[in-house]
Amino acid sequence: MIYDRILLTGAAGLLGTELRKRLAPRVKFLRSTDIASMTDAAPNEEQVQADLGDLNAAKELVRDIDAIVHFGGISKDADYEIIHRVNIIGFQSLYEAARIAGVKRIVFSSSVHAIGFYDQTQTIDASVPTRPDSNYGVAKAFGENLAQLFWDKHGLETVSLRIGSSEPKPSTRRHLMTWLSFDDMWQLVERSLTVPRVGHTIVYGASNNRASFWDNRLAAHLGYHPKDSADDYTDEIFAADPHPNREDIVNRLQGGMFAK
Ligand SMILES: NC(=O)c1ccc[n+]([C@@H]2O[C@H](COP(=O)([O-])OP(=O)(O)OC[C@H]3O[C@@H](n4cnc5c(N)ncnc54)[C@H](O)[C@@H]3O)[C@@H](O)[C@H]2O)c1
Repeated sequence: MIYDRILLTGAAGLLGTELRKRLAPRVKFLRSTDIASMTDAAPNEEQVQADLGDLNAAKELVRDIDAIVHFGGISKDADYEIIHRVNIIGFQSLYEAARIAGVKRIVFSSSVHAIGFYDQTQTIDASVPTRPDSNYGVAKAFGENLAQLFWDKHGLETVSLRIGSSEPKPSTRRHLMTWLSFDDMWQLVERSLTVPRVGHTIVYGASNNRASFWDNRLAAHLGYHPKDSADDYTDEIFAADPHPNREDIVNRLQGGMFAK
């Protein structure tokens, strides 16, 4: 990795916990932050409990940091007020603080829900217009746009990871298209912190799933080659859900349930 001093937000969360244990041994200094408490700090890790919606927090969080792995915030759909406070205003404050502090790069956990209204029969790449499926998805689309602005205007690089479904294992028909294993999620973050020049790159975060509706050729420069596949779970998933209702939005749109 080309960055030594990393800020990880959302460090107490599902994906943040995976990232903490993989980042700490590979960097000189890791600052892990979350609104929730954490334990078991690595020798080179500083843990900071902070609210991303608190506009004064960002300045301290980014101090002496080279790159940010931004996985914190509201991770499902919610009332607009809370999404607005944390995922929009908080996001903007983090970018502005990062710019002032001279942070070089941000890896942003965007989401399938920024493009959730595309049909599951459509194959899309990163050049399509966003089609958010929820307040949460609107905030992710905002985040990608802000990242583009900060690259174009200020030279602050971002890799926006449009993460599908990153869970220990796939469990639904839709996951056969959207699943991202934790190892592949890590590979995406590691590549995003290693490739010399990324500008603002948008990449779909999915494992090597045969049924995927995403085309990552525009992000080929990241050198992301997923190793896992939801295909290995097909029999199990078909047995649990043998007759899916094709009329149901969950089975029709890329965003699944969030589009309801
Ligand atoms: N897991 C997935 O399948 C998936 C899919 C698409 C996108 N993402 C994105 O990846 C990121 C991590 O997802 P996750 O599954 O680990 O979710 P998670 O909810 O487990 O983690 C999010 C973390 O953010 C923290 N947080 C919430 N509000 C905060 C605030 N005001 N200030 C500081 N911290 C706050 C939470 O305490 C939590 O630890 C999120 O941005 C999510 O939107 C995840």
